[in-house]
Amino acid sequence: MQRMSRTTFAAAAALMLGFGPAVAGPAEDELVVNDEITITTVAPAAAHLEGHLDTVYSGWLFRTEDSRAMQKDDFENPMFIYVERGLEAWDMADGSEGKSCADCHGSIEEGMKGVRAKMPKVNAGGALWSMEDYINSCRTERMGAEAWKWNSGEMKDMTSAISLQSRGMPVDVAIDGPAAEFWQRGKDMYYTRYGQLELSCANCHEDNYGNNIRADHLSQGQTNGFPLYRLKDGAAVSIHQRFVGCVRDSRAETFAAGSQEFRELELYVASRGLGLQIEGVAVRP
Ligand code: HEC
Ligand code: HEC
Repeated sequence: MQRMSRTTFAAAAALMLGFGPAVAGPAEDELVVNDEITITTVAPAAAHLEGHLDTVYSGWLFRTEDSRAMQKDDFENPMFIYVERGLEAWDMADGSEGKSCADCHGSIEEGMKGVRAKMPKVNAGGALWSMEDYINSCRTERMGAEAWKWNSGEMKDMTSAISLQSRGMPVDVAIDGPAAEFWQRGKDMYYTRYGQLELSCANCHEDNYGNNIRADHLSQGQTNGFPLYRLKDGAAVSIHQRFVGCVRDSRAETFAAGSQEFRELELYVASRGLGLQIEGVAVRP
């Protein structure tokens, strides 16, 4: 596929989106949470990115000092309201079987350790599932409870509480074996140009990270921080919700949160973050 040069992109984006001058690349800063948990935010890129990226950076490094600071302290991080509610829900019985998550999985700290780092992944039936799918399958098949909507508060509470149990663990998605075909489709999608602006994910997040677009400092569009709090929305945002926003920004028809396309894209984007660590719950402007 033909890739847009930086200059062509700059011209198009300047016209349509208000492309700003390049500012300095990622910040020189270290993410140490609560003065005790050091999280890797810069790493050599995975082998599959050869010819595309040499180094991968967490989105945290592209934010202002203020929002970076909020993520360094759990008391300042608004995501902990979601985490707290998720922890409560974990122990609460729900549905016709009268069971809670804890009844089967034990404590969330033990039962869900490392789970977020491997998502999305292929399930026993051969389908690619995101964390939300696993949660809903437990609710409907094992608890006799109703499925939660993908972007509902209940779902974000639970994915936040579960993600926190992988904080500081390396992104660990499988991209070979049964995952390979899903990964390939996700990759194809990443490099496909959508919408009136004919922009692919790569045009912004691979060719132009470090540059400004409108008021935003473009990052590599990594997913290791999700679910995360967007100060602009005053709410938590799921991975698929962010994808919807980015596709819409290219003035394209978008896929739905929870669509097969976005599960595949989620897998591919997660694999671009191999080497980085799960931030559990991040904060962005
Ligand atoms: C009746 C028992 C039961 C209940 C209740 C239950 N689960 Fe599960 N859950 C399972 C089993 C069994 C699996 C599959 C385990 C496996 O194959 O690794 C599973 C898998 C999962 C997974 C995927 C884990 C992984 O490593 O792939 C997640 C996430 C999960 N459950 C979350 C939840 C949440 C959240 C709740 C409460 C809303 C819940 N579960 C309630 C039995 C249960
Ligand atoms: C027109 C440029 C543009 C395109 C095209 C675009 N994005 Fe984004 N994206 C942004 C901007 C701006 C942000 C917010 C600043 C940042 O983190 O880069 C963002 C943020 C993100 C984030 C959040 C990163 C973080 O750490 O907070 C993810 C993930 C993401 N994009 C994925 C994608 C994917 C996948 C595609 C392709 C479907 C895509 N983007 C297409 C502009 C774009």
